[in-house]
Amino acid sequence: MEIENFGAQTDNADFSNPLAMIHACHERIRRFCRLLQDAGSALQQHGASQDFVTACKHIHHYFSTAGKLHHQDEENDIFPLVIRTSLKIAELIHQLKQEHRQLDQLWESLAPLLQSARHLDDPGQFIRLANDYARLAVAHVDKEEEEFLPVIQHLLSSEQLEKIGHSMALRRNLAFPPPGFE
Ligand SMILES: [Fe+2]
Ligand SMILES: [Fe+2]
Repeated sequence: MEIENFGAQTDNADFSNPLAMIHACHERIRRFCRLLQDAGSALQQHGASQDFVTACKHIHHYFSTAGKLHHQDEENDIFPLVIRTSLKIAELIHQLKQEHRQLDQLWESLAPLLQSARHLDDPGQFIRLANDYARLAVAHVDKEEEEFLPVIQHLLSSEQLEKIGHSMALRRNLAFPPPGFE
């Protein structure tokens, strides 16, 4: 189980290119989902080792901070700007929001287990929830990358992209443009 280099920060953030930031977030989501599934396997094989507990701490931190902000970026800044452009996009956004709610529901059950990783009453429950969450989250970002982002990148004007980047930076209490950008 590889628990190095799982920084949750928006390192080398460039909010002038917010869709690239969204892609970068998706890569981090995939990495933390792999770690989550690896943690489930490690628990099954070795019990609640120190590595398992440490991995759970990193996973809990990521999905309750940066992961949460990522859903807000999409729902508050991006979806409203493109939802009226076609019926197909409106339907896709409806599905993506439903998946966010499903992920939120799974997270409500999984988060307390990640926080009490050392003393789990039911390891089987952890493994089931970890796999369910990771599978849904990865399928969700795959769908956004295959069906949503390639379409909306042609719909958003440079002013709208700037507005999205500004809002994402504000959400993270970061300066916009980033220092040295101007
Ligand atoms: Fe999403
Ligand atoms: Fe996303």
